[in-house]
Amino acid sequence: MYRNVVAIISGGASGLGAATASYLARNGARVMVADLPQAQEHFLKMEARSNDNNSNGSLKFSQADVRSEDDISSALDMVDEEFGEQVNVAVNCAGVAPARKTLSQKIAEDGSVTTRLHSLEEFSKTMQVNTVGTFNLARMAADRMAQRPADDNGLRGVIINTASVAAYDGQIGQVAYASSKGGVVGMTLPMARDLAAVGIRVMTIAPGLFMTPLLAGLPEKVHKDLVKNVPCPNRLGDPIYYAQLVGSIITNPYLNGEVIRLDGALRMPP
Ligand SMILES: NC(=O)c1ccc[n+]([C@@H]2O[C@H](COP(=O)([O-])OP(=O)(O)OC[C@H]3O[C@@H](n4cnc5c(N)ncnc54)[C@H](O)[C@@H]3O)[C@@H](O)[C@H]2O)c1
Repeated sequence: MYRNVVAIISGGASGLGAATASYLARNGARVMVADLPQAQEHFLKMEARSNDNNSNGSLKFSQADVRSEDDISSALDMVDEEFGEQVNVAVNCAGVAPARKTLSQKIAEDGSVTTRLHSLEEFSKTMQVNTVGTFNLARMAADRMAQRPADDNGLRGVIINTASVAAYDGQIGQVAYASSKGGVVGMTLPMARDLAAVGIRVMTIAPGLFMTPLLAGLPEKVHKDLVKNVPCPNRLGDPIYYAQLVGSIITNPYLNGEVIRLDGALRMPP
C-alpha cells in the first residue's frame, strides 16, 4: 500500500513514531527512523519484530537530534543512500513532555512559604525539541522533497507534524509543553502555504491520550483517572490509531494545511 513511500520519522524508535514506522514498513514503505543515540536499542528490537513479521518494506536507523542541522542533514543523506531516492514523507514525532508549574508554592506547617519558579532552561529545551526541532526537520525534508519529480497532482511530498490536545486545553503544569505544541499548530497553515508552490503538503495531528511509554509507566489508578475524561471510546488511544491516520494523510492528496485532533472527543480539564 505504501510501496512508493520513502519516509523519515523523528522520534521513530518509541511510542507513536515507532507504531508509525512499523505500520508503514509492514505495508511496503522504506522508513528511516531518526532518533537519539540512546533510542537505538529500542529500534533494534522493533526491527527484529518487523523481520519476524515478514515486513514488505524496510526500516533503518539514523542517530539524530531534531535540534541539529548536521544530524538531520546526515539522516536525510542516509535516506538517499539507503533507499536510492529522496524522502517524500516526513513525520515529526520526537518530543519531550515536562510537567512543571509556572510558579508553585509549598506552605510548611510553620507557615513558611517555599516558592519554585519554572526554569527558563526547561521552558527553552521544550520549545527547542518540540517546536524548533519540528520546524528543523520539516524545512530540511522540504528541501529534499523539492528535488523529487512531481506526481499527477503536482505533489512531491507531505510533512506530518505532531502537536497535542494540550495546544488547545493545556493543563496545570503544561505551560511549556502546551506552548511548544501551540507553536506546532501555528506553523501548520503558513508552512502549507509556503510549500504549496513546490507541491508539498503540511498536516498536523493533535493526539489526545495514547498508551505509549510516556503513559505506560504511570500507575493503574492514574490511567483510570485519565480515561474518565475520554468520552468515546472510553479508553486510552492505541498508537496504531495514530499510525493509521498518518497513512490516511499520506494517501489523501486533498488533506493540507489542517490540524486533526485524534482524541475520542477528549477535552482536558484544568
Ligand atoms: N502519548 C501521548 O499520549 C501523546 C499525546 C499527545 C501528543 N503526543 C506527542 O506525540 C509525540 C510522540 O510521543 P510518544 O508518546 O510516542 O513519546 P515517546 O517518549 O514514546 O517517544 C518520543 C521519542 O522522541 C525521541 N526524542 C526525544 N527528544 C529528541 C530529540 N531531541 N531528537 C530526536 N528524538 C528525540 C525519544 O528518544 C523517543 O524515542 C510527542 O511529540 C508527544 O508530545 C503524545
